[in-house]
Amino acid sequence: MPDQRDRPILVLLTSHWISMLGVALVTLAGFTWLFLLPEHIRGHVDDPYIGVLVFIAIPILFFLGLALIPVGVMLAKRKVAAHLASIPDRPAAWRRAGLFFGIMTLVNVVIGSQVSYRAVEHMETVQFCGQSCHVMKPEFTAHQAPPHEQVACVGCHVAPGASGWAKSKMAGTRQLMAVLFNAYPRPIESAMESNRLVSATETCEQCHARDRVVGPRLRIITHYKDDEANTRTTTVLMMIAGGRKYGGIHGAHLGQGVQIRYAASDKKRQEIPWVEYRNTDTGETRTYLAAGTQPESARSLPVFEMQCVDCHNRPAHAFDQPDRAVDNAIAMGHIPSRLPWIKKTAVTLIKADYKTEEEAAHGIPAGLSAFYREKYPEVSAKRAPDIQAAGDALVAIYKRNIFPDLKVTWGSYPNNLGHADYPGCFRCHDDNHATADKKTITQDCGGCHQSLAIEETSPEILKTLGVADKIESFERQ
Ligand code: HEC
Ligand code: HEC
Ligand code: HEC
Ligand code: HEC
Ligand code: HEC
Repeated sequence: MPDQRDRPILVLLTSHWISMLGVALVTLAGFTWLFLLPEHIRGHVDDPYIGVLVFIAIPILFFLGLALIPVGVMLAKRKVAAHLASIPDRPAAWRRAGLFFGIMTLVNVVIGSQVSYRAVEHMETVQFCGQSCHVMKPEFTAHQAPPHEQVACVGCHVAPGASGWAKSKMAGTRQLMAVLFNAYPRPIESAMESNRLVSATETCEQCHARDRVVGPRLRIITHYKDDEANTRTTTVLMMIAGGRKYGGIHGAHLGQGVQIRYAASDKKRQEIPWVEYRNTDTGETRTYLAAGTQPESARSLPVFEMQCVDCHNRPAHAFDQPDRAVDNAIAMGHIPSRLPWIKKTAVTLIKADYKTEEEAAHGIPAGLSAFYREKYPEVSAKRAPDIQAAGDALVAIYKRNIFPDLKVTWGSYPNNLGHADYPGCFRCHDDNHATADKKTITQDCGGCHQSLAIEETSPEILKTLGVADKIESFERQ
């Protein structure tokens, strides 16, 4: 048994309980790291909470331990000095100590850089952002649908570079505190509402160049009427999105020299009393005021410059209105289209008030079965599996859009692209915003889309294009 007095290392590490705690933490974290080395190499674990433990908690313990060791030594300065003075062969002992500290520092640098690298990397994953914390469930769920399911949350929520990173970590810490103290709003505010939107130049435009032209797009939109036969109607629109140098919708707002600014009187930016068009190339300027707005009252409102997310505000987290969700499910064959009154009944059932997800998962299919049992006993008997399938599809719609514990319900997050479900484009294009000389922001239908068919039951254009029966073929009878 070597005498402790011969070993400065032991003197240093054991002189105070804080140093000993530090040694214990470093050792514990180091061994856990070794034990979990395979996960670190893969950079991924399947469970979000284990992920936080492995990639965030272990590095914290590791560095905390390293920091505690010198703190303990400092606190026991006198005791340490006395011990060290009594070592017989000091130079040899110090050489051994130096070697030990040298090797340990090297090992710690390797482990430390690895754990911190993985910690930073882990904080960029969709799993960390979307699943570690239940308040993100609506956004995480919506993000799993195209087109951006492959784009990480940080791609749109964190500006590139070190300052963007630091800002997001600060905001993240604030949000964590709000969750820990249960002091967050329900539903949580949209990024626009809380004014924490990262500019589209630093997010969207990193992947979608402003200069790019978007060719004409044919939009085929299917609805079903609230009648016994669930009559299908189709709208066919030709959208001209265009581009910076190519006119169209994009060119009109983001074209060469164009700058559109607006003032909003509510936080969700649904009420826009003041709009200014300015072209820095031609020097044109036009100021539009909503009818009944006094210029002075508009001046005190916050002003924003129009960018991608003023129209595409839900590119990754679009929530449907009940009507549209049911229409899409029928069109895609998830809900049989020939069940009498299925459209109307389905919408009524998913719009009803349920206290919890479980209550909805039970109440929706039960309500549907009861409807057919009472009103259509024959259908109920013959098509029980179809009614069951429709019930399941409705529960899936509910779980995709409604989150009762977070008070996210139909319409909580308006989508500004379009004008059918929310004001959207018509926040400005309502023929009601005018300049002093009575020029308005156009509401002319053809100004934004060629309407090839509007809610027609059998549009000629689909036959001309040769796609009429292909669209029907997705449906289930
Ligand atoms: C393609 C870009 C994009 C991606 C990817 C993305 N978001 Fe968003 N997110 C947005 C935009 C834009 C808003 C602002 C919406 C608004 O103000 O209406 C937003 C809003 C939010 C909000 C505020 C609440 C709300 O619904 O408006 C949360 C929370 C959120 N996102 C979390 C996430 C999480 C978690 C992920 C990853 C799973 C993610 N986002 C991925 C673009 C994105
Ligand atoms: C990291 C890169 C990336 C970022 C950031 C990003 N996108 Fe995308 N986006 C894509 C890709 C890739 C696709 C194509 C997906 C596909 O075709 O399946 C896409 C698709 C789209 C589409 C649909 C195109 C279509 O064909 O349906 C729109 C609209 C869009 N993005 C808008 C935005 C907006 C608005 C933002 C910012 C809030 C944004 N994107 C941020 C990569 C990105
Ligand atoms: C004034 C509103 C508005 C603004 C601002 C706007 N867009 Fe669009 N964008 C649209 C509309 C409308 C469409 C056509 C959507 C459709 O096909 O139904 C579109 C189409 C697109 C598409 C192609 C979608 C497809 O179906 O192929 C992409 C990608 C896109 N926009 C990205 C962007 C980006 C990036 C920005 C910012 C640089 C931007 N948009 C700014 C309204 C806007
Ligand atoms: C914040 C207000 C605002 C919103 C929201 C808005 N626009 Fe505009 N839009 C304008 C202004 C301002 C102009 C230019 C008017 C002028 O020339 O003075 C314009 C012009 C246009 C034009 C060119 C019209 C023409 O006759 O030259 C099109 C097309 C257009 N917008 C489409 C859209 C679409 C599609 C949406 C919704 C996705 C939309 N806008 C949303 C403010 C808005
Ligand atoms: C400022 C631009 C703009 C104007 C003006 C405009 N629309 Fe639209 N409209 C849009 C956009 C954008 C969409 C959404 C397309 C999509 O879903 O991708 C849309 C969608 C629609 C739809 C499909 C709605 C659905 O069921 O999903 C119909 C129908 C429609 N417009 C009719 C009209 C009619 C009629 C007028 C004239 C009173 C008109 N629009 C004027 C931009 C405009």
